[in-house]
Amino acid sequence: MEEGVLIVKDIQIDGTHPPGGVISVWTLNRPDKLNALNDMSHQSIKNECIRVESDDNIRCVVIKGASPPEPPEGKRKKPAAFAAGADISEFAGKNSDDVRPFFEDNAWEAVWNLSKPTIAMVDGFALGGGTELALSCDIRIASERAMFGQPEINLGLIPGGGGTQRLCRLVGYGKAMEIVLTGDMINARDALEIGLVNKVVAIEELDEVSMSMAETIARKSPHTAKVAKRAVRTALELPFSEGVLTERSEFVALFDTEDKEIGVQAFLGRKDAEWTGR
Ligand code: COA
Repeated sequence: MEEGVLIVKDIQIDGTHPPGGVISVWTLNRPDKLNALNDMSHQSIKNECIRVESDDNIRCVVIKGASPPEPPEGKRKKPAAFAAGADISEFAGKNSDDVRPFFEDNAWEAVWNLSKPTIAMVDGFALGGGTELALSCDIRIASERAMFGQPEINLGLIPGGGGTQRLCRLVGYGKAMEIVLTGDMINARDALEIGLVNKVVAIEELDEVSMSMAETIARKSPHTAKVAKRAVRTALELPFSEGVLTERSEFVALFDTEDKEIGVQAFLGRKDAEWTGR
């Protein structure tokens, strides 16, 4: 098995409430293959999702791609990538029975199903399963050189990591159709224009902007952040009027939490809230 395809670093945020809050930063680490997601990448991401759910200190997850290494002399440097898709070499010669188990239990769904907020920090190529991994996150921040796309059609395939569904809900039917049917790449500015990404920043600012947003989120009540994510997510699943009812019931239930009283008293007393997470 290939080692180290996912580098995980838990970054401690000082002065969080409850104390000990961390941002878990996951780096897809196959830069020679433009961080293409192979079987091991999926397994590692799924394992990390289980760990994140069981660790109360982890408040937010940031996913990024490893930068390309310096090339040997005379060779060209590989381009930057978040992930250039599923590892196409693992598709060769496979039939539906071979791939079904893998696609039924994949990393895109594991990330999507995390109860905690997630941010994709996208520099360079995010294609196919790379765009889908970014779509599985709650927020996408892109560098100016980020390139998105669903080129599976060029392989005689369609997106298989939830891309048709998540893309459609994020950018709408017409744009999703264009992206899936043409397989064309779209640059960061166009991605921003259609709502595929939340922000586009200079390459050298990508880390700081993404981590700063993660820190902002990590400083909220972890309980309330989960409820907020769950409530917004409801809009994708339920009819509007049912979603409004669900939101109302989540909102009302928060009045039984310690953190609601802490937040309200902190505002009234002009102090910082010291959340308990309860
Ligand atoms: N799966 C497996 N390997 C991949 C890959 C993928 N999805 N994407 C890139 N690679 C590998 C290449 O095979 C190459 O490996 P090598 O140097 O050992 O030959 C390396 O990453 C660099 O890619 P390369 O194609 O040489 O870089 P480029 O700058 O010429 O082109 C892309 C960059 C992103 C345009 C091109 O790599 C590409 O089209 N990738 C496939 C994208 C795709 O179809 N994704 C959807 C998969 S379902």
